[in-house]
Amino acid sequence: MVLDDKNFTKYLNRHEIDAAVQNIANRLNADYEGKEVVLVGVLKGAIVFMADLVRHLKVDCEVDFVRLSSYGKARTSSGTVSMLKDIQADIRGKHVLIIEEIIDSGRTLKFLYDRLRASGPASVEIVTLLDKAAKRVVDVPVKYIGRTIEDQFLIGYGLDLEEYCRNLPDIYYLKYPN
Ligand code: IMP
Ligand code: MG
Repeated sequence: MVLDDKNFTKYLNRHEIDAAVQNIANRLNADYEGKEVVLVGVLKGAIVFMADLVRHLKVDCEVDFVRLSSYGKARTSSGTVSMLKDIQADIRGKHVLIIEEIIDSGRTLKFLYDRLRASGPASVEIVTLLDKAAKRVVDVPVKYIGRTIEDQFLIGYGLDLEEYCRNLPDIYYLKYPN
């Protein structure tokens, strides 16, 4: 198994994750009451968080996805972002929520945020489960944050280590990342 020779420590268990997801959902349910939203999930990492979040939402919503590439298999951002898959929904006049599992430099989100805003939506806000706030290098407004975390390389709950580990129900950090 890919994890066997790695040193992982549990960072957030599923109860802590559930509490963070529920907390975000409560805020969204209050802020978007009576409105329709389009959720735009960032593939692939956001799938697990988005699947949990959407089941707590009481507002009418469409679900769509983008696939962006900035990291490849590297663990730090390359700085260039490209769109591998665009949304299909027409977001003109709609309230858009970008759903991301983790924000590091902010480059990925900045690219997507600017691009979606150029399509004439009523509003765009960013929702992230985890925020490595101290790592931010570009300014991007993140309104809904599950947890602000230290600079750790995390895996599980959608977060990958070279494409593995997304299926783990809890979130771990790598003690010796190299
Ligand atoms: P940013 O553009 O530097 O903010 O990078 C954001 C993207 O990098 C996230 O959507 C994740 O896919 C990936 N990423 C950032 N930090 C981690 C981590 O600790 N573990 C796994 N993926 C990460
Ligand atoms: Mg991601």
